[in-house]
Amino acid sequence: MKTLRVLTGITTSGTPHLGNYVGAIRPTVRASRLAHVDSFYFLADYHALIKVGEPARVQRSTLEIAATWLACGLDPEQVTFYRQSDIPEIPELTWLLTCVTGKGLLNRAHAYKASVDKNSAAGLEPDDGVTAGLFMYPVLMAADILMFNAHKVPVGRDQVQHIEMARDMASSFNHLYGEHFTLPEAEIEAHVATLPGLDGRKMSKSYDNTIPLFVPRDQLRKLIMGIVTDSRAPGEPKDTEGSALFQIYQAFASTEETAGLAKAYDDGIAWGDAKQLLFERLEQEIAPMRTVYDELMNDPARIERTLLAGAEKARATSRPFTARLRHAVGLRALDSQPVQAPVTKPGKSAAPVFKQYRETDGQFRFKLLDAKGSVLLQSIGFASPREAAQTIARLRQDGPTALTELQNLLENQADTALVQAALAHLQEDHT
Ligand code: TRP
Repeated sequence: MKTLRVLTGITTSGTPHLGNYVGAIRPTVRASRLAHVDSFYFLADYHALIKVGEPARVQRSTLEIAATWLACGLDPEQVTFYRQSDIPEIPELTWLLTCVTGKGLLNRAHAYKASVDKNSAAGLEPDDGVTAGLFMYPVLMAADILMFNAHKVPVGRDQVQHIEMARDMASSFNHLYGEHFTLPEAEIEAHVATLPGLDGRKMSKSYDNTIPLFVPRDQLRKLIMGIVTDSRAPGEPKDTEGSALFQIYQAFASTEETAGLAKAYDDGIAWGDAKQLLFERLEQEIAPMRTVYDELMNDPARIERTLLAGAEKARATSRPFTARLRHAVGLRALDSQPVQAPVTKPGKSAAPVFKQYRETDGQFRFKLLDAKGSVLLQSIGFASPREAAQTIARLRQDGPTALTELQNLLENQADTALVQAALAHLQEDHT
């Protein structure tokens, strides 16, 4: 029995690099093999539209990331692997969540705030160049997570705030409409140090210092030879501390191998030889996956089929769950019976109710019952259900005042003060 549901997505806006592999892809593929984990992995292509305005690049990146995940050992039979935009229930849930999310909450999102701060610093309008898509980013992400009631969401540190916002949205929705959503938790890969790039800063597309995971062998070698080092000559001892080369090696090698390289640094290994060692160690792990990757990239139709099958699997959950959520918020077929009496607002006592019924004499009557079911008020017999309903409507609308106006249609069955209080309660709920 799989008890823990883990979900994560990758935005399809670029080509996976070694940093993505070490920080996200490798750990999630490993986690997906654990017997007790039910994994949901997806390609966040709606999210890509927020920052990428190039259709061809979105398509290309979606293909590359899907191929990467599969080449790295993700088994679509064992996990639910899909593309976000194949699940129309996601944008639908985004709207339901939008309506329970404070605008102020979204104002505090780091990504949005960073844009505003940058604009202010440049003397521009705070929202200059900010799309509503960027502003709504956390709501779309919450929909991704809450749709499948994920318990754990493995993410980088920069995404933790988004998971907290998803929790807030889930709580607000649950509070208003009943317990529908699991509150998700972020899972940070704490022991994985962020990988340095070619220039020694964090490997990131925005620094243009990445080593793509699946470049051809020759190109990989060339890139590695370009990693920054200091100017120490062969024979001079070298520092592992602050060496990008060493840190990348460490992310791939065993503890013993890493100790071996540390010793070689101490013994004054030439930078060229150290780079060759790193290249060989990377090749050992990457080469077999690269073969699969190249095959997959040459057969996009196969990936497309895999993703569509994954979407069907995901929608087996998202379709019925969305039907339940639609019902919960009141998006219902008009001829469906209201399943329950109106939900009592928190902080108020349980509401009185009207009950309509037909007597054996063929006439239509109604009663007003208090929260415990005692009769407070009873109507005379009406010729049609419509007249009974109209009388109820006036009582709801006008509250206690209607009591006097309609007195010849009604019979108090309890203390007038109690009846008036009940009508006042319903009137509040009504407005
Ligand atoms: N925002 C994430 C990123 O850029 C990608 C993402 C989208 C995601 N939806 C998600 C991650 C849901 C985890 C869960 O890294």
